[in-house]
Amino acid sequence: MALRDIHGAEIDTLLARYAQRRSAVLPLLYIAQDTYGHLTDDAVREVAEIIGMPATDVFEVVGFYSLYYTKPMGKWVLQVCDDVPCCFCGAEELITALEQALGLRAHGETTRDGMFTLERVKCVAACNKAPVLQANLDYIYNLTADKADELLNELRRRADSGEQLSVSGRAATV
Ligand code: FES
Repeated sequence: MALRDIHGAEIDTLLARYAQRRSAVLPLLYIAQDTYGHLTDDAVREVAEIIGMPATDVFEVVGFYSLYYTKPMGKWVLQVCDDVPCCFCGAEELITALEQALGLRAHGETTRDGMFTLERVKCVAACNKAPVLQANLDYIYNLTADKADELLNELRRRADSGEQLSVSGRAATV
């Protein structure tokens, strides 16, 4: 089923918010990501068609932002900032602890149970609370390696509790 068939009213509301349809590209990509789980080539082309943008331009947008995913991701996407201030405060040690706890590498790999995807990202604009990890839309501040296991347990508990998790910025409230 196409995005318009599923989310027609939401898409119309979004488009009406902007003077130019192309300005709705980011929220429309989030809708597509929520609907299909990740942004397939067809999903990106579908968004391009809705807003009348060349598909190539929409693919470039997807490639630029770290919250758009072109492959299946875990329920929790763990993005550890490995920029300089975070590294000064222990980001590399944190990444190593997470890799060991999850049995994977921080190159966008996903645990076999589909719970966690781990990747490195550049500055997420919270340098004063380094090291920083972003779990879906939640920021976890001052996260040192010794707190990694506790965090993973908490995230597992939240997922198991039935909390609705979203890897899409569509669920952002600010
Ligand atoms: S350097 Fe890590 S949040 Fe800015």
